[in-house]
Amino acid sequence: MNISGRTALVTGASGGLGQAIARALAGAGAQLVLSGRRGDVLEGLASELGAQVAPADLSDPDAVRSLAAAHADVDILVANAGLPASGRLASFSEEQIDRALDVNLRAPMVLAHALAPAMAARRSGHIVFMSSLSGKAATAGSSIYSATKFGLRGFAGALRAELHGSGVGVSAIFPGFIRDAGMFQDAGVTLPRGTQTKTPGQVASATLRAIERDRGEVDVAPLALKLGATISGIAPELVATVTRRAGGDEVAAQFEAGQLDKR
Ligand SMILES: NC(=O)c1ccc[n+]([C@@H]2O[C@H](COP(=O)([O-])OP(=O)(O)OC[C@H]3O[C@@H](n4cnc5c(N)ncnc54)[C@H](OP(=O)(O)O)[C@@H]3O)[C@@H](O)[C@H]2O)c1
Repeated sequence: MNISGRTALVTGASGGLGQAIARALAGAGAQLVLSGRRGDVLEGLASELGAQVAPADLSDPDAVRSLAAAHADVDILVANAGLPASGRLASFSEEQIDRALDVNLRAPMVLAHALAPAMAARRSGHIVFMSSLSGKAATAGSSIYSATKFGLRGFAGALRAELHGSGVGVSAIFPGFIRDAGMFQDAGVTLPRGTQTKTPGQVASATLRAIERDRGEVDVAPLALKLGATISGIAPELVATVTRRAGGDEVAAQFEAGQLDKR
């Protein structure tokens, strides 16, 4: 798809990765609708990019429905909003589990369900789901987050197959640890020595590439993490053992402490 002149709805546009994706899409000539909860942040970005704002709390099914209805004719959906939902299962309330499922998994599914038919009728459109390497490899302290991100991977792959030949492309993006802005940066976690990171700009470039070239899955991570995630698909116990020995439990505890405020 040629992005120039298309309309795009970006959820999580007030966050670290969402802002980078919005700037990249605007730079490629898209007309944007920016969604998130923090209206002030959305307004600032919208005035910079000449975009519309559409604040919505995606944990509220009525708000998801209204957002889709108000922007039913967009060419591109970037379902990027998400919360980190990190920490041991026992530390979550049932309400927190529901919110993570609603924002990270249910809202992207419902938005795609609402917007894809009009795209297919026009025989043109693209839907991007922001997963994570935690959607390919399960580690300690990420049971709920991984459940949502593995879920997004399955949903995206199946929907892509279903829409094959319809003119509507579907992509899933799998970032590793992203520095400079976003939920990893905000958590202040110290990774084991030698663990490399990527930037929000690289996630944004990968998102544009996925739309322009209709890529099914795109990783945004250094080779070692990509390999780990791939091997985890074949031998999850092996990767779990290596991760534990490399200090995975300590890193998981840091994520839980640093991301409690985003539940
Ligand atoms: N950063 C990383 O290292 C990394 C790695 C892998 C995957 N990801 C994924 O990338 C996506 C963006 O993450 P990020 O790093 O940019 O995180 P972030 O800076 O914390 O931004 C999260 C975004 O999601 C929105 N959001 C959260 N709860 C919401 C709700 N109830 N209703 C509507 N919007 C809500 C936030 O909106 P408000 O702030 O306005 O509430 C914000 O725009 C997420 O899906 C995340 O899982 C990130």
